[in-house]
Amino acid sequence: MDIFNQKERKLILAIESSCDETSVAVIEDGQVILSNIVASQINSHKRFGGVVPEVASRHHVEQIISCIDEALNEANVTKEELGAVAVTYGPGLVGALLIGIQAAKSFAWANDLPLIPVNHMAGHIYAARFVSEMTFPVLALLVSGGHTELVLMKAHGEFEIIGETRDDACGEAYDKVGRVLGLSYPSGKEIDEMAHLGQDTYHFPRSMMKEDNYDFSFSGLKSAFINLVHNAEQRDEVLDKHDLAASFQASVIDVLVSKTIRAAKEYQVKQVILAGGVAANKGLRDRLTQVVASELQDVHLVVPPFKLCGDNAAMIGAAAFVEAEKGVFADGSLNARPSVTL
Ligand code: KG4
Ligand code: ZN
Repeated sequence: MDIFNQKERKLILAIESSCDETSVAVIEDGQVILSNIVASQINSHKRFGGVVPEVASRHHVEQIISCIDEALNEANVTKEELGAVAVTYGPGLVGALLIGIQAAKSFAWANDLPLIPVNHMAGHIYAARFVSEMTFPVLALLVSGGHTELVLMKAHGEFEIIGETRDDACGEAYDKVGRVLGLSYPSGKEIDEMAHLGQDTYHFPRSMMKEDNYDFSFSGLKSAFINLVHNAEQRDEVLDKHDLAASFQASVIDVLVSKTIRAAKEYQVKQVILAGGVAANKGLRDRLTQVVASELQDVHLVVPPFKLCGDNAAMIGAAAFVEAEKGVFADGSLNARPSVTL
């Protein structure tokens, strides 16, 4: 069904509530952001050192309606002009997802609009489409607080996971190491800044870097880091925090970049996309840019702007546009799928 055939413009209202940001966006043609409202709850979770699911759900309930109103206002679009409503149905926190899903279902029912279910990780990859059209095959390095994956795409909306973490996600490792350094949650951005002021003097292990697969492991690095800090504390030694951050980050980047380059060569991809919250990491962005330029001559690297790396609804709208073209719609029975994969 062509959901836009009665409409003057191809407009989707997208809703994201999988973790700790309530976000609503209006997207045109799957590639133009008319509005992208993001209400972050980070300050409420900081004192607990991580996201508290129950607190997250309550915040989503409080924010969702005003985010929808604000997204429509800022886009200068009326409900009647919309062609569809899209919503993240997983992966994520079940209670948090359900708030967005319920809001999307109600909005779709009240306004007689089709409902498009979107996988959050597909959304992260589709953030790249605001920067550049995709040229297949595409390899996406997907690095977030809950996931670390290398994803091969041969066409729009088709995802093959060729490698993933066997234990901690990359962002999770940043946040756990940050806690040991006494930083507040989430600590990825701060560690990135500290890393730029230090040197890789501690030479942490590069887990699984040389292994003949595309999987990752970050728990060994995390343990090595924590043991080093605890041993030093017991001996009353003071370690240089900037060097610690730089050493941790150097290990993470070496592994991520070398596996991405190897996979890009093996699968002869035309485009590499960096996606997910950790894609905001300046060290990773710079290094991947350099290495793709020097080692993968005809490959185009797409790195979304900082504000589209973290969770937001614009990326959900972009992925939804492709789902709608494939004819993927949901009805009122749509449920949250907290552990759904791509
Ligand atoms: O994609 P995202 O916003 O939420 C999930 O879907 O998980 O990712 C959040 C993660 C957090 O672990 C955070 O510490 C990390 O992204 N992060 C970073 C940076 N900015 C955010 N990690 C490293 N360097 C950064 N600059
Ligand atoms: Zn995310």
